[in-house]
Amino acid sequence: MKLYTHKNINQLQKYIPKECNVFAIIDNKVKDYFKAFKNWNFIGIDALENAKTLEKAGEICSRLMEMKAGRDCFIIGAGGGVTTDLAGFVASIYKRGVRFGLVPTTLLAAADAAIGGKNGVNHLGIKNMMGTITQPEWTFQSTEFFRTLDERVFKEGIAEILKTFLLMDEEGFYESADFFRNYNHRSPSQRQEQNLRSLVRRCALRKMQIVEKDEFDHQARRFLNLGHTFGHALESYYGGEILHGEAVAAGTLAAARLSVKLSLMKERTFDLISDCYSACGISFRFGVKAADLLKYIVNDKKISGGEIVFILPVETGTKTEAWSIPLPEFKKLCKGVVL
Ligand SMILES: NC(=O)c1ccc[n+]([C@@H]2O[C@H](COP(=O)([O-])OP(=O)(O)OC[C@H]3O[C@@H](n4cnc5c(N)ncnc54)[C@H](O)[C@@H]3O)[C@@H](O)[C@H]2O)c1
Repeated sequence: MKLYTHKNINQLQKYIPKECNVFAIIDNKVKDYFKAFKNWNFIGIDALENAKTLEKAGEICSRLMEMKAGRDCFIIGAGGGVTTDLAGFVASIYKRGVRFGLVPTTLLAAADAAIGGKNGVNHLGIKNMMGTITQPEWTFQSTEFFRTLDERVFKEGIAEILKTFLLMDEEGFYESADFFRNYNHRSPSQRQEQNLRSLVRRCALRKMQIVEKDEFDHQARRFLNLGHTFGHALESYYGGEILHGEAVAAGTLAAARLSVKLSLMKERTFDLISDCYSACGISFRFGVKAADLLKYIVNDKKISGGEIVFILPVETGTKTEAWSIPLPEFKKLCKGVVL
């Protein structure tokens, strides 16, 4: 997969194969950005987490059939993570798979969701229950889109960036915490936006390094699940009322708390990490007991043979461990942990 990073979307056209008919599956909220692309066929969607379903994917496939999209078409998924997950899924199954590229329009999608080829839909209230791992030909990042994001949506992107750097880039972690504490995403200076582009690109490249080592999620890639076991459970608990990045931030802090309980992480490191999240204004405290999330965790894809593979941060950006913990032990460990 190629990663293109630009100031605005003027350069997008050059990455689209000339010989292909383009079908853009696009979040209705960002349609205006794409007005110049007169020769594209558009399928607009309302990007809601509860629209990331098999039914919706089927509907989009029906629209593609009506619009006579052939095997040689090129699909573009443009929007936040809901749209890029859904569009990538459709592209990977329509006529057994067609070429596609992604244009993430949220900070979260640019730094994370549109990188790595995981596509999918939710099912029966469980996140990403069905999906494929199919790489887009490219992902096109531009910071231009972020100026119109809601405050909460922008901040959940920060949370995902912190998570990736917490895993594998200590300098990136503290640099981004420092950068975001004073960043006004609605009216940034050119210099600030340029710095944001570098941070987002650096974060995406870090994720790509891991994906290149383990595309199908057997070893190294599972570390990217830091914060997701609790995070996904929290999202299911709230039934779509909270944002993915908010849930993952709370899940990451809870994982760090478990790491302290297991004497892997120092209390001081925990405080430093927690301060960085707070300084960026990320709300990660929901007052939900970890014990109340266990019934959602039972359906987690990371459970096998009665054991959960749990990702535990140890040192900022340099050390993380994956522990297989039997469920009864995990339950005990969760006692007293509040997200
Ligand atoms: N595939 C992966 O590896 C991966 C990784 C992380 C998250 N995800 C998925 O990503 C999803 C969350 O992504 P998200 O937070 O981007 O969600 P989203 O797509 O729901 O976008 C959030 C909101 O922002 C709006 N929006 C999008 N772009 C905008 C813009 N430029 N200006 C104004 N509003 C805009 C959307 O319409 C929506 O209301 C979840 O479904 C999660 O599971 C996937």
